Amino acid sequence: MIVGVPREIKKDEYRVALLPFGVEELTRAGHRVLVERGAGLGSGIPDEQYAENGAEIVDSAADIFGRAEMVIKVKEPLPAEWPLLRPGQILFTYFHFAADETLTRAVLATGVTAVAYETLRGAKGDLPCLTPMSEVAGRMSIQEGAKFLERPQEGRGILLGGVPGVPPAHIVILGGGVVGKNAAQIAAGFQADVNILDINVDRLRYLEDIMPANVNTLYSDRHNVRDQLVLADLLIGAVLIEGARAPHLVRKEDLKLMKPGAVIIDVAIDQGGCVETSRPTTHSQPTYIVDGIVHYCVTNMPGAVGRTSTYALCNVTFPYAMQIATRGLKGACQRDRGLVNAVNMSDGRLTNQAVADTFGIPCVEYDPRA
Ligand SMILES: NC(=O)c1ccc[n+]([C@@H]2O[C@H](COP(=O)([O-])OP(=O)(O)OC[C@H]3O[C@@H](n4cnc5c(N)ncnc54)[C@H](O)[C@@H]3O)[C@@H](O)[C@H]2O)c1
Repeated sequence: MIVGVPREIKKDEYRVALLPFGVEELTRAGHRVLVERGAGLGSGIPDEQYAENGAEIVDSAADIFGRAEMVIKVKEPLPAEWPLLRPGQILFTYFHFAADETLTRAVLATGVTAVAYETLRGAKGDLPCLTPMSEVAGRMSIQEGAKFLERPQEGRGILLGGVPGVPPAHIVILGGGVVGKNAAQIAAGFQADVNILDINVDRLRYLEDIMPANVNTLYSDRHNVRDQLVLADLLIGAVLIEGARAPHLVRKEDLKLMKPGAVIIDVAIDQGGCVETSRPTTHSQPTYIVDGIVHYCVTNMPGAVGRTSTYALCNVTFPYAMQIATRGLKGACQRDRGLVNAVNMSDGRLTNQAVADTFGIPCVEYDPRA
């Protein structure tokens, strides 16, 4: 199979979808790998490293998309890339369709086979390609929150850990999944006062067992959320309903419950955000203020720590890319039912029920035996 790796063109995106070792493995298995010139530079990987391992360095994205049977990317295709997508071509990347109807309809119209990292299911029923980026974003959310709580960044001027005689910051984490757990661990290390809310009581039990004493768990209902908003210096939005738009757990009118200068880091923004007033931002202009509350809603947080994120991402995506290249998508799906779940579009038809329900588009089941 011809596998293509374009350079990411999303603003402030520094990740790349394949490591030099992946090039070596693919070429050793008889596949051809095309890497766009400069694709790895943001992660500190020069073209020469790809070339030394067997890649053909290609000058333009058009060439990559024009020749590759499977394109591996990091972020969703941007409008400049839509005309390059071809019917039947496999595009293996993050899409987050449910957050963007325009993207969904545009990619559907190209006839490309959209295989989405974020809905690929692992053997344990988990989402293995989402996990490492959620780990990065969760850990990073506290780092960013600490920064934007500083007064020059328009925050409340609060030090996360406080000091002897002055209380630490009150951190509220909505959603105790991978992002929430990682955020809580880092926040706990800062000696903040941490509260995680989730609707999954088993998950709350688990978190209670493994977290240090400065992390408390709470059931996520409307009353508890509102009570916590009053106390919050830093709010982390980390809920997920798989494949669907994030629910608005914080409404616009709730912002007046919060302290002026409190900070919201809405990590769930890539699924639309769990705060009604959230709208996507970029690393170069990450925040804006609504009703005195600092909102940080960067859709590709891991992109800023490109090197860590590239290695963490490729560690989990590469085995699947290898399987698809070797067996073809249908063959790989027959061996691994979790991969079927990643197929969001095939032959110009939507194959993911949650995305279909979000936009009222008809859905068909992807059948790898057809
Ligand atoms: N902005 C970024 O750069 C970035 C990076 C990585 C992940 N994300 C996003 O972060 C979000 C969280 O990802 P994750 O991997 O932690 O997901 P996850 O599935 O591991 O955890 C989500 C948690 O939300 C909980 N939840 C669902 N409804 C809830 C509610 N009403 N109240 C409280 N909790 C609720 C679930 O029970 C689950 O524990 C996703 O939208 C993901 O796409 C964003």
